[in-house]
Amino acid sequence: MKKDKILIIGAGGQIGVELAFSLRKIYGADNVIASDIRPAHPLLKDSGPYAILNAMDANAVLELVKKEGVTQIYLLAAVLSATGEKDPMRAWDINMKSLLQLLDIGVQEKLSKIYWPSSIAVFGPTTPRTHTPQQTVIEPRTVYGISKYAGELWCQYYNQRWGLDVRSIRYPGLISWKSAPGGGTTDYAIDIYIEALKNKKYTCFLAENTYLPMMYMDDAIRGTIELMEAPAEQLKTHMAYNLSAMSFSPKEIAESIRQHIPDFTIDYAPDFRQAIAEGWPQSIDDSTAREHWNWKHEFDLDKMTVAMLENLK
Ligand code: SER
Repeated sequence: MKKDKILIIGAGGQIGVELAFSLRKIYGADNVIASDIRPAHPLLKDSGPYAILNAMDANAVLELVKKEGVTQIYLLAAVLSATGEKDPMRAWDINMKSLLQLLDIGVQEKLSKIYWPSSIAVFGPTTPRTHTPQQTVIEPRTVYGISKYAGELWCQYYNQRWGLDVRSIRYPGLISWKSAPGGGTTDYAIDIYIEALKNKKYTCFLAENTYLPMMYMDDAIRGTIELMEAPAEQLKTHMAYNLSAMSFSPKEIAESIRQHIPDFTIDYAPDFRQAIAEGWPQSIDDSTAREHWNWKHEFDLDKMTVAMLENLK
């Protein structure tokens, strides 16, 4: 078993709960401290060490790192795209301050690695919208996207200036059933499965032909851990990696669900999130990740639909 001591900040969120489980399997439960500003998520209770921790409280983070001999940190606390637009300065403050403080702690405490998620939200309406390349025009229009792009640049800066090993992925919309997402534009692709099972109908807040890049959580977690375990010399970019698995519209996911629930119906009532979605890519070119660290996805839309419906039942 490996000797790293890992801290997950924001472990109660959509990614954190599942990442905590997977990391505990690999590194041993006692070597993975889950933390969040809230009390432990029900699925995390009694599965390993847990701390209440505010990502914005640098002293508390530093104290925990020193006390527990933490060597690696995953910082997952963030305000997502749709919530961010409701209070932009709060989103900027939380997303940036938590990262910048952590980068300093990383240098000071000589952490071996830091993981910080980026997003397809870094891209904007001036970016090529299909097969969006790793390096391209990047002019985000949401505060979430601005904070993620600025964060990527800071991660790269800390790497080049102080040799800090920070790794990052531009996640597409992540679809999962264990822990609920919070305030994203891609969240419809989770709600739709829940409503299909419960009520056999769903009203979508995006229009029927809105294509977005998406990924099943199992792929995202495996990809994240594979990136973190990849030899540093293979990682030739220190900006976040584009990562892709599938791309679909609300109409297509509804069709995929109808293969299992034939009388499922969908209607559409696009709201402010439609404009956010229209500024993002429809599909992503992730050949750099495939080349540098051998990324491969496993789930396509229909395979994910089977898994989501089975697990949510
Ligand atoms: N899923 C995120 C959102 O919709 C994108 O990273 O905000």
